[in-house]
Amino acid sequence: MYEIVRREDFSDTTFLIEVKRPMLAKAAMPGQFVIVRSHTGGERIPLTIADFDREQGTITLVVQAVGKTTKQMREECVVGSRLKSLAGPMGNPSHIDSVGKVVCVGGGLGVAPVYPILRAYKESGAYVIGVVGFREKGLVFWKEKFAAHCDELVICTDDGSEGIKGNVTTGLKDVMARHADIGEVVAIGPPVMMKACAEATRPAGIKTIVSLNPVMVDGTGMCGGCRVTVGGETKLGCVDGPDFDGHEVDFDELVTRLRRWKEDERAALERWQNHKSDCRMLHGSK
Ligand SMILES: Cc1cc2nc3c(=O)[nH]c(=O)nc-3n(C[C@H](O)[C@H](O)[C@H](O)COP(=O)(O)OP(=O)(O)OC[C@H]3O[C@@H](n4cnc5c(N)ncnc54)[C@H](O)[C@@H]3O)c2cc1C
Ligand code: FES
Repeated sequence: MYEIVRREDFSDTTFLIEVKRPMLAKAAMPGQFVIVRSHTGGERIPLTIADFDREQGTITLVVQAVGKTTKQMREECVVGSRLKSLAGPMGNPSHIDSVGKVVCVGGGLGVAPVYPILRAYKESGAYVIGVVGFREKGLVFWKEKFAAHCDELVICTDDGSEGIKGNVTTGLKDVMARHADIGEVVAIGPPVMMKACAEATRPAGIKTIVSLNPVMVDGTGMCGGCRVTVGGETKLGCVDGPDFDGHEVDFDELVTRLRRWKEDERAALERWQNHKSDCRMLHGSK
């Protein structure tokens, strides 16, 4: 059982938890993920290691509450509570190549996961440009943390309330127009966003790495649930990735596979919500 030592809420849906797990914090590398089970009988879900502190022995996870398990975590994962299981680090660490100038793009769920990669590039001596996207100013988080490791930081908001108006692809195109010597782009976020970034860099032939998020079960290469097609070949997101060449990924297949269990996911969320209100009624009637 792994204790949650810090919690911070960034919005109604996005929250951070810092978990005590010294061995994992010692081994964690940028780009890797963990498989978490928050409570007995709960689903195992993959979450990227958004930060790690080897001295404190903690890892940081940033979670977006989108369905049954993540919404339950939003309610139950408070300081002092414990995660039932926490396996990892999993997946291959990101390759921090010597690229001169790198653009690290994070949108939606990808904002937190791109941070340790961006920091590792800065520590390797690269010129780092961060491009992060949010819906609006009130949802911006980790601005100072990003700025501390970026030579340039571009914030994009859908409504233009902070930084430039538009999504991260707009921000990436803006950066590409100002810098002709970009060695690599790293893009993390929803599949449609990663696809748009890869299409933006394709004409210029800029190497573009994306971190894929297929449905994972074991995270160790055994179930085949996380199959993705890259360069016409079948790969497993968990053991061959999660990082892949964005110009080679079949994003349309990834999106189709991510939607495959929608009905079961909707039913699981409804069952949990009904169960909660039944419990409240019982409690209230005592
Ligand atoms: C390598 C990797 C890293 C990830 N990192 C983060 C992160 O740092 N923060 C974060 O909030 N989310 C992250 N995700 C996504 C997260 O795992 C899903 O949002 C979560 O599993 C949804 O579960 P749920 O029960 O709340 O929602 P559900 O209603 O069950 O699912 C909502 C959607 O999430 C996706 N999903 C569902 N189950 C899984 C699963 N077992 N594996 C992967 N995707 C699933 C599907 O697209 C589904 O339609 C990551 C996924 C992967 C593969
Ligand atoms: S999650 Fe089972 S093979 Fe990747």
